[in-house]
Amino acid sequence: MEDQKCRSSPTTWTIVILSLICILGVCPANGASAGADASSSLSTYIIEVQKPTDKHLATIEDLDTFYRSFLPATTAGSNQEQRMVHSYRHVLSGFAAKLTAEEAKAIGEKNGVLDVRPETVLSLHTTHTHDYLGLRRGVGLWEDSNYGKGVIIGVLDTGILPEHLSFSDEGVPPPPAKWKGRCNFKRTSCNNKLIGARSFTHLSRSAAPYDDLGHGTHTASTAAGAFVKDASVFGFANGTAVGIAPLAHLAVYQVCTPLGCFTSAILAGFDAAIEDGVDVLSVSLGSKIPQEFRSDPIARGAFAATQKGIFVSCSAGNSGPSNYTLTNGAPWVLTVGASSTDRTIKATARLGNGQEFDGETLYQPRDFKPAQHPLVDMEGDEYKPRGKVSVRYTVYGRIEQGQMVKDAGGVAMILVNDPTKAYTTFPEPHVLPAAHVSHAAGTEIKKYIKTVSTPTATILFKGTQFNGSFAPAVAYFSSRGPNSISPGILKPDIIGPGLNILAGWNSPIDNSTDKKRPFKLISGTSMSCPHLSGVVALLKSVHPDWSPAAIKSAILTTAATSNAKGQPIVDEARRPASIFATGAGHVNVSKAVDPGLIYDTELTDYVPYLCGLNYSDGDVSLIVGKEVSCSSIESIPDYQLNYPSISVNFVRLGSNVSVKRTVRNVGPANSRYKLVIEPIAGIGSINVSPRELVFTKANETISYTVNFTRKASPQAVNAQGAITWVSAQHSVRTAVAVLFKESGGL
Ligand SMILES: *[C@@H]1O[C@H](CO)[C@@H](O)[C@H](O)[C@H]1NC(C)=O
Ligand SMILES: *[C@@H]1O[C@H](CO)[C@@H](O)[C@H](O)[C@H]1NC(C)=O
Ligand SMILES: *[C@@H]1O[C@H](CO)[C@@H](O)[C@H](O)[C@H]1NC(C)=O
Ligand SMILES: *[C@@H]1O[C@H](CO)[C@@H](O)[C@H](O)[C@H]1NC(C)=O
Ligand SMILES: *[C@@H]1O[C@H](CO)[C@@H](O)[C@H](O)[C@H]1NC(C)=O
Ligand SMILES: *[C@@H]1O[C@H](CO)[C@@H](O)[C@H](O)[C@H]1NC(C)=O
Ligand SMILES: *[C@@H]1O[C@H](CO)[C@@H](O)[C@H](O)[C@H]1NC(C)=O
Ligand SMILES: *[C@@H]1O[C@H](CO)[C@@H](O)[C@H](O)[C@H]1NC(C)=O
Ligand SMILES: *[C@@H]1O[C@H](CO)[C@@H](O)[C@H](O)[C@H]1NC(C)=O
Repeated sequence: MEDQKCRSSPTTWTIVILSLICILGVCPANGASAGADASSSLSTYIIEVQKPTDKHLATIEDLDTFYRSFLPATTAGSNQEQRMVHSYRHVLSGFAAKLTAEEAKAIGEKNGVLDVRPETVLSLHTTHTHDYLGLRRGVGLWEDSNYGKGVIIGVLDTGILPEHLSFSDEGVPPPPAKWKGRCNFKRTSCNNKLIGARSFTHLSRSAAPYDDLGHGTHTASTAAGAFVKDASVFGFANGTAVGIAPLAHLAVYQVCTPLGCFTSAILAGFDAAIEDGVDVLSVSLGSKIPQEFRSDPIARGAFAATQKGIFVSCSAGNSGPSNYTLTNGAPWVLTVGASSTDRTIKATARLGNGQEFDGETLYQPRDFKPAQHPLVDMEGDEYKPRGKVSVRYTVYGRIEQGQMVKDAGGVAMILVNDPTKAYTTFPEPHVLPAAHVSHAAGTEIKKYIKTVSTPTATILFKGTQFNGSFAPAVAYFSSRGPNSISPGILKPDIIGPGLNILAGWNSPIDNSTDKKRPFKLISGTSMSCPHLSGVVALLKSVHPDWSPAAIKSAILTTAATSNAKGQPIVDEARRPASIFATGAGHVNVSKAVDPGLIYDTELTDYVPYLCGLNYSDGDVSLIVGKEVSCSSIESIPDYQLNYPSISVNFVRLGSNVSVKRTVRNVGPANSRYKLVIEPIAGIGSINVSPRELVFTKANETISYTVNFTRKASPQAVNAQGAITWVSAQHSVRTAVAVLFKESGGL
């Protein structure tokens, strides 16, 4: 009966997807059967076994021998070596091997085997941002943190183009003594910037992780790219490209191929990064839908990394704007959503009546005369595009539609967003004069076409523009909470730049760039994640003794909730964004370095937390890597984890909820904090005790409780507010999400 309470354990490993790829509209073929060997019926399985107890099993060779002892006799002999795909040391006790279904079943029945699961299909699902984030040469955090010098950022991705100028090591010191990694490029390709490079997607362990896709080059250069002058795409977004932590080291672990990111490879990448000694891990990949922690390789790998003090930063997913789409939501990772920056590559659609609608495109031919041409709507009655400007819609391929208009003899295209994409537009290399405009603009343009007898339009090209008035705005694709795996943990944690980000690419995409400095503008939470990884590296430089949880707390409690105009941050539809889209808000780097107070989470706190989520003893033991009996400890509900935000779920918790938090003083020894409460709709009373926090020592901790009482029948599905502790120098904001009803789920 005991087991009935437990969450059922999924039997397959997560399908992991490079979120970015689908945004670009080039999703590689789905459905390739992961790990399947074309020549036989072998598939890759991940096998978890009980830890070897003998101390002498500590060396890698002995561990391999131990793992191989689980392989059935049929695999013995010369081909056994090839059956073993990965042997894990840190992420979990176990290995990945190629097996037939019968062999896998037989292994599952062996003594000491805890779990056997097939690796499922892994369908593959900045010149300006440093400035936008307030990082300037010679001053402030860049100067104080020495540009991230000495910190090692590991990147689990598609590999890297090592020759790219973004990976020049000018000014970067040799790696610290603790570094144990290796470089599988030829000797000339690694340097003091790129200190590690390994592949887990090839059969050969010495294969070089060349980036065939560009994604890994983009994320690595975003996190820690060197200064590269005169970067641009098609001449736009031009300037000096640089990563967020320009003097940090990079270690690259190739875990993705054009077919996707194989779970056995992801676990192997985490395993190697932990062994090598990285400080920060940047993981811009994940599943399309939420996954239980137990079978999610990122949650599992990140837990093992966190145990070693490694900070793990992850993309939230690109499945927005629907609710409950958030992935990578474990409390031990930083989950990053994506927002716009203040830069656009502007093209304006101008109608015959003088109305103008701003949009974007990367193709801005100088010789296009802004004369009015007849305007037709592809959804209108008679669609004949020849010699005209066509209205087309983003429900179909964006570039392809321009090609169709061009092939039909059309002059230009106004590409209109579908309703869910709202105001999120992309500057892309269209094949004819075009402007990608918002859904709202499209509605007005349709109205105009219907009301005049001879509608006309043209496109005006305006190049790179700054100071976009709604930035940062949440991008439509950024995955949203509530967190379906653990509703008491607010996710995403934070938003950062993820829309139209310029960073290094693996091949030139226009004719003006040479092979050593290709750059590309792309979008996704894949892009926002490495921004935060870079921020974490800067913070680690300044505070080397802070735990991953403390650094996360610093980022969350100092986040901005309003935009440059002082208005609340908006979403893709320009409505005030939900807390389930923004988390704590938009990262403010210069504030995060000096947060005043921090919420720390001890590693041991995750055990009562996981027990409180009703995972079985076996599952908790697998996740934390040691034997746990939940009945012998006091478990806690998820919202009681000492997290730097609060998520209260009245669907499950009746009408009164009491939440406890503990803060540590990392500001001046003598500090007095007063309470400021942002009221929450639908909550009748918020009682906080004590109402003042008085610190007399550095590192002193004080606990407080917050009692929320909901109104009799709140109208809203959810609501948001905050509890802020304010001293003379600091403002420590704890975002509060409240859920009254479940709604809008998948
Ligand atoms: C960060 O906060 C500081 C101090 O309040 C403010 O001056 C600055 O504009 C903020 N920067 C960003 C990028 O939000
Ligand atoms: C970008 O290019 C334009 C046009 O060539 C030039 O006016 C501008 O100064 C450049 N911007 C930067 C930041 O280099
Ligand atoms: C998400 O939930 C909110 C209520 O919290 C609802 O207003 C909204 O329409 C939902 N969004 C989607 C895309 O379902
Ligand atoms: C953007 O606005 C700020 C002030 O709000 C100004 O200092 C800056 O020059 C503007 N940037 C551009 C590129 O117009
Ligand atoms: C790049 O060069 C090719 C061949 O020289 C040409 O067809 C193409 O139009 C050029 N593209 C751009 C964007 O200039
Ligand atoms: C765990 O199980 C207990 C007992 O069945 C139940 O009260 C509680 O709501 C469950 N918690 C979660 C997070 O599912
Ligand atoms: C909830 O708290 C309020 C006051 O904070 C109290 O009046 C009420 O009785 C409590 N309800 C329950 C069910 O405990
Ligand atoms: C909060 O509620 C708990 C019990 O639910 C109670 O012991 C405590 O006094 C309350 N605190 C405040 C500040 O209302
Ligand atoms: C505070 O704690 C940190 C790490 O726990 C330690 O390095 C530091 O010296 C402490 N500071 C004081 C003033 O005790």
